[in-house]
Amino acid sequence: MPFIDRDFINDLSQRVDIVDLINRRVPLKKAGKDYKACCPFHNEKTPSFTVVPNKQIYHCFGCSENGGAIDFVMKFDHLNFQEAVEIVASESGMSVIYDQNARPADPKIKRYIELMSQVSEFYQDQLKHSPAKNKVVDYAKHRGISGQTAKRFELGFAPPGWSNLFDHFKSDQETLTDLENMGLIVEKSDKKGEFYDRFRDRIMFPIHNSKGDVIAFGGRTITEQDKPKYLNSPETPIFSKSKELYGLHHCRKYSRSIDYILVVEGYMDVVALHQGGIVRTVATLGTATTPQHLQTLSRTSNVIIFCFDGDRAGRSAAWKALNVALPVIKAGMVVKFLFLPDNEDPDSLINKESKKSFEERIIKSHTLSKFLFDHIKSEVDFDTIEGKTIFLEKVSVLISMVSYETYKQQLIEGVAKFVGQGIDQVVSVIVKQNQVTNNKPHDKHNFPDDGYEPNVTDFVDYDAPSIGPTKKDTTKALMSKMISLLLNYPSLADGTVEVRVRRIKQSEVLLELIHSAQIDENISQEDLIKPFKNKVNIYSRLKVLCSLEPHLSESQASDEFLECINNIERQQKNALIKDKISNAKTVDEEREVMINIQKGKR
Ligand code: UTP
Ligand code: MN
Repeated sequence: MPFIDRDFINDLSQRVDIVDLINRRVPLKKAGKDYKACCPFHNEKTPSFTVVPNKQIYHCFGCSENGGAIDFVMKFDHLNFQEAVEIVASESGMSVIYDQNARPADPKIKRYIELMSQVSEFYQDQLKHSPAKNKVVDYAKHRGISGQTAKRFELGFAPPGWSNLFDHFKSDQETLTDLENMGLIVEKSDKKGEFYDRFRDRIMFPIHNSKGDVIAFGGRTITEQDKPKYLNSPETPIFSKSKELYGLHHCRKYSRSIDYILVVEGYMDVVALHQGGIVRTVATLGTATTPQHLQTLSRTSNVIIFCFDGDRAGRSAAWKALNVALPVIKAGMVVKFLFLPDNEDPDSLINKESKKSFEERIIKSHTLSKFLFDHIKSEVDFDTIEGKTIFLEKVSVLISMVSYETYKQQLIEGVAKFVGQGIDQVVSVIVKQNQVTNNKPHDKHNFPDDGYEPNVTDFVDYDAPSIGPTKKDTTKALMSKMISLLLNYPSLADGTVEVRVRRIKQSEVLLELIHSAQIDENISQEDLIKPFKNKVNIYSRLKVLCSLEPHLSESQASDEFLECINNIERQQKNALIKDKISNAKTVDEEREVMINIQKGKR
């Protein structure tokens, strides 16, 4: 996505008419110099929402919501910053100026999006007209999906047979190439140049991006014994499983204020809950929750509720989500967990019980801290001193992952209460625990598969302040920053950078990323970090670094990256000199070292 020019954003804020912009969404009444309305962000009967034209701001005296034109559109239309700027600009009759240094948008992407919409129409049309449509219509009925819901979610049908989609589009070679790139037709392994349809005899769920474009599909078998039950589009230039959430577009479109967002596991869960009136629901696409998902979720709502089955698999998935959430939690963000009774999923429950009963479950969902403490408690013999000790150590490791200081403090107080000890004692365990992790030897990381797992703290410091008096190792912090920059701007990797990074000690992870990025500068974050999948600690740390979006133009990112290399090189040079001086055995040797340094400088 191209970056918007900063000057343009400043200019825009000065040129829009906030009264006009808000009035189009919430009818305003003049009150003296200002304008008033009932606040769209909380329930009220007397208007306390005020728009101040001469300052171009809004403010609600009831709920304290406030900001300028772009903030209002982000909040009201549920958009991210860039999307909001684009909307505000177009409503004010201005065309957005993008950063000159950013790469131009790929014209192919536009073609892919148009094609996906045509394919979605093809599948929807098959649901109405295919000779085999009866069985899928019966199936949808049997699952309780109404006609209106099917229409809202644009459900479709990929009929039985190997080439329905192919035949529909075969007259145009370029379209066929695009279909292949979208993973919708697949080349036969034994007959090059011949293709078959990826989705056959399945009920089709189009997957939309947040703007509402179809970017991928999921297809479910209609006959129970067919395998796999769900088949998804592969990763493509417009679709990345680790970023997208099924149902997000519908959630934003059909709910005015999103005071919570429920994260479930399946397509059918989203569709059934939506039909049952719980529209603030999304699903991950057959993957565990990623930091990118969490970023998107936190932009959508302040309260994120993970909903899982109550069985072992559900709890283990919830635990994974908790681990991803801890480093990402920030001010104003609340993460909760809702566990359903055994053998139920949201789809089965909402078909059995009322919307109200389900909402009561949502209200009663567990706080993150409760789940955290209960889960670890269940793993130890809590009634013994030894068990409590292990409990404290395990909790400490997790609390150290939290970067939001106030929350970290609250968790520490919570633990103290939970184990019946003083806060100081808990803090001292956390500090010790941090020292243990920081002191573990990590002087090498050999790749790929020698079984050695570098500690997460090898590049842990960037944007993750830790508790207690730990010495900040700036090389590590710089390394983390470089990795984060590279993950977000793979085009930074070039031959010169590689040569310099190769000379830096302990730079194996970064080097490996540079290699992959040089091969394909449009590589997705997921593909970049894939080679580390088996190194659990590195992998989870990389995922966190993926989610720290530095919001820079490419040239700024490149400047920062080079600045980091310069700094690390300087540090390592200084360390070398110090080493030489301290290894010098006589005053003469010391003097010689100093002379050489002086010579080197000149
Ligand atoms: P479940 O197997 O729990 O199915 O998979 P479900 O959602 O309850 O589906 P129904 O009710 O039988 O139709 C949960 C999610 O995991 C992914 C899909 O996203 C699915 O919605 N999944 C599951 C796959 O991607 N592939 C599979 O083969 C199975
Ligand atoms: Mn189900």
